[in-house]
Amino acid sequence: MSLYQSIQYHSKTIYLCWHHLTDAVREGRTQYEKAFGVSSGDLFDAIYRSDEEMVTFMQLMHSIWNICGKDVVTAFDLSPFKVICDLGGCSGALAKHCTSAYPECTVTIFDLPKVVHMSKEHFIKDDQRISFHEGDFFKDSLPEAELYILARILHDWTDERCVELLQRIYKACKPGGAVLVVEALLSEDGSGPLTAQLYSLNMLVQTEGRERTDVQYAALLTAAGFTNIRHCLTGKIYDAVLGHKKA
Ligand SMILES: C[S@@+](CC[C@H](N)C(=O)[O-])C[C@H]1O[C@@H](n2cnc3c(N)ncnc32)[C@H](O)[C@@H]1O
Repeated sequence: MSLYQSIQYHSKTIYLCWHHLTDAVREGRTQYEKAFGVSSGDLFDAIYRSDEEMVTFMQLMHSIWNICGKDVVTAFDLSPFKVICDLGGCSGALAKHCTSAYPECTVTIFDLPKVVHMSKEHFIKDDQRISFHEGDFFKDSLPEAELYILARILHDWTDERCVELLQRIYKACKPGGAVLVVEALLSEDGSGPLTAQLYSLNMLVQTEGRERTDVQYAALLTAAGFTNIRHCLTGKIYDAVLGHKKA
């Protein structure tokens, strides 16, 4: 998908939501319901309202990883982790980057059933090292893995929901395993980078979440039990935070 197509796709959503930007900033909460008549808790039901909208959204998610996918999966040496699960893995773009960067790993893409079907049909075909798992990461049991990837997931949710999800991951994670959070990190005082600030405004109007600083992500990971938390600024749009589960 070209940048122009991606802007076209998002222009309606952005216009409708940003039309309510003043209210969002004043009230400090999402305006999704006002703009679209559905709760932001059902954000993905709204985004996936038709197959066409779903594929377009997935292409949009996919396209950024052509630019910075390799940087985020190599921000840390992930070679010790052979069994990887990409939660909310969508089109599988990051799964592909993992299997190219780390020849010994396998990756399971975990996502909502209709997203998994679409990914199999349009994005990942006959890859021996990539498999799929359908489910809801807030409700269903998570496959056991050595490394979990959460790319652009936590920024959709409140701190409480993030800790709930991270606790579920901690329970499923093998001892000695880890979680890799991939997000656009805000600087400590929130004064930049501009892209992360704009994403955060977008999260405010559309979702229950926001962009966060590395310290804020570390606090969420710590609350769920993870230790030895480090972050890496890649110099591109998305950065990485790695937290470990004791062996
Ligand atoms: C913002 S997209 C990020 C996709 C991908 N990780 C990336 O960075 O390109 C969020 C993803 O989480 C998935 N998702 C949302 N809620 C979910 C849930 N309850 N269980 C499983 N997956 C979910 C969506 O279908 C979507 O693929």
